[in-house]
Amino acid sequence: MKRIFSGTQPTGEIHLGNYLGALKQYVELQNGAECYFCVVNLHALTIPRDPADLREKTLDLAAIYLAIGLDPKKATLFVQSHVPAHTEAAWLLQCISRIGELSRMVQFKEKSKGSAESAGVGLFTYPVLQAADILLYQADQVPVGEDQKQHLELTRDLAERFNRDYGEVFVIPEVLIPKVGARVMALDDPTKKMSKSSDSKWNNIGLLDEPKQIEKKLKRAVTDSENEVRFDREQKPGISNLMTIYSALGGLSLAEIEKKYEGVGYGQFKRDLIEVTLESLRPIQERYAEIRHSGYVEEVLRDGAERANKMANETLYKMREAMGLLQF
Ligand code: AMP
Ligand code: TRP
Repeated sequence: MKRIFSGTQPTGEIHLGNYLGALKQYVELQNGAECYFCVVNLHALTIPRDPADLREKTLDLAAIYLAIGLDPKKATLFVQSHVPAHTEAAWLLQCISRIGELSRMVQFKEKSKGSAESAGVGLFTYPVLQAADILLYQADQVPVGEDQKQHLELTRDLAERFNRDYGEVFVIPEVLIPKVGARVMALDDPTKKMSKSSDSKWNNIGLLDEPKQIEKKLKRAVTDSENEVRFDREQKPGISNLMTIYSALGGLSLAEIEKKYEGVGYGQFKRDLIEVTLESLRPIQERYAEIRHSGYVEEVLRDGAERANKMANETLYKMREAMGLLQF
């Protein structure tokens, strides 16, 4: 059976980009593979956080995992800081990582806004911790959005280097990117990706947004001066992005959507998109409200931590052995 690992940061609200790029895949994968899905709270610390808020957001995200349909009987759901092996493995991997390769990470360049001098060291070594997350579980596949491709390449490089220098310890993981929804763009600016860190409330749709908000945001979403529902990322990025969302949530292909709205125009398309979005999110929101404060989330995470520690410690033991760290 294949093993799957993925993680999401408990920062800000989970939006449609996260859902269509990554989380929705998790749900499909849990039926045919051994899955580990992590709330990566250590990664969240790379940017200053309010401690009380981080605690709440950690539980919020775990509740979202459950609400979208992850089943703790099938998949292991856990919090990164509950498995100390992640930080130790990250140190060991840092010792085989190069400053040059980390300097080339696009996410670091973006988040440090080009000022390496004042950027946090955690932000710089972030991808090594991510590699540790993945490699500790000997994951075959890692479902993520397109923006994580480069981090996955680094993870593979580090695993290959370790195996070559210290002997075969790691499975070399593959990246798993969805066909539709790998890069959901911002509603108010379809040339940028939908993001939690945007200052504009019109940027994204949160999975927990009120129906009224969702409707408003989609109505305001940028299209273009034509009135033709046609997929063309270059010339028509706005409508193409909305078509992607429609396709991923509503199950129609892009070609089917084009056909359905031939000669109909944007008004009807948007009304239907609102309907499809509300229908898709309603059961998630209901389930979320049911479990978030019921004690169930904590119970799942406690059990998940136990299972994850077991798996991670096995690999960490092999890493220490391979590198010559004395173990009794
Ligand atoms: P993050 O919120 O950065 O921890 O991302 C969680 C997951 O969502 C990762 O797998 C990302 O690749 C994915 N993701 C984030 N933003 C987008 C987006 N705009 N479109 C598609 N996937 C995304
Ligand atoms: N860096 C990822 C992001 O920003 C989150 C992440 C941390 C992750 N560890 C991971 C994703 C391990 C996949 C596997 O989205």
